[in-house]
Amino acid sequence: MTFQLIDGKATAATIKAEIKQQVEALVADGKRRPHLVAILVGHDGGSETYVKNKVLACEACGFQSTLIRYEEDVTEGELLEKVAELNHRDDVDGFIVQLPLPKHIDEQRINEAIAWQKDVDGFTPINVGRMSLGLPSFVSATPKGILTLLQRYDIPTSGQKVVILGRSNIVGKPMAQLMMQKQWGDSTVVVCHSHSKQLREECLSADIIIAAIGRPDFLTADMVRPGATVIDVGTTRVPDATRKTGFRLNGDVKFDEVAPKCSYITPVPGGVGPMTICMLMQNTLEAYIMREV
Ligand code: GUN
Repeated sequence: MTFQLIDGKATAATIKAEIKQQVEALVADGKRRPHLVAILVGHDGGSETYVKNKVLACEACGFQSTLIRYEEDVTEGELLEKVAELNHRDDVDGFIVQLPLPKHIDEQRINEAIAWQKDVDGFTPINVGRMSLGLPSFVSATPKGILTLLQRYDIPTSGQKVVILGRSNIVGKPMAQLMMQKQWGDSTVVVCHSHSKQLREECLSADIIIAAIGRPDFLTADMVRPGATVIDVGTTRVPDATRKTGFRLNGDVKFDEVAPKCSYITPVPGGVGPMTICMLMQNTLEAYIMREV
């Protein structure tokens, strides 16, 4: 079977160019540029890379961006103070606090302090709740990016069976909501996790499998029915001495054996990853338009 690769990198580049065009039109009209602020605590390698790529994406979209850095020993109080300041600043449209945070800081407490109007990650209880009710909201970037890829590749979702592997707050749960709701996926959704029985059978009955469990090569060919669409959200760093960085990103899907069975599949890297950052840009533009236009 010949499969089609879903090119997230190219799709993200197209969308960023569309955003840039919109921004330049606004600027030509005398408006200010959208402004995204990122807070980064400590020096975690993955977080450093994500935030660097977010800043680069801002440049590509014609946004203003600000990176606020703290050392690992920042207190919860200091972070809460910064969040309160950003909530009120007129020149800031949206901001994110890069996760994970050091153990001495309560992530949920920080999250709940973010004003939902500036929560372009879509992680606050108000945005999660509004999204679940089908109300206008900021939808978290990875699920939104996956839905956008399915739409841009004309992959039908209405009435299709979608199996989601993983139930995280960032991907699995919001993904299930989006795929279930009539105005988005309109699909039949099953969410599987580490305690699910009949996991292989569930996967075999899926038209679309979304793998987001963070276990490299978890989804194997015997779990995929011919013609299925497979979306790989995994980005585990595995040691690789042949790389300059000393690691490579490994997806949750055993690509080489699964791909030949699929009609569509995302690669790692270059699939879901670039779309996530691109959707953060889209959310930032939405936040800006909500405040400014
Ligand atoms: N850490 C991993 N993914 C994300 C994300 O989408 N947003 C933030 N803020 N932190 C993350």
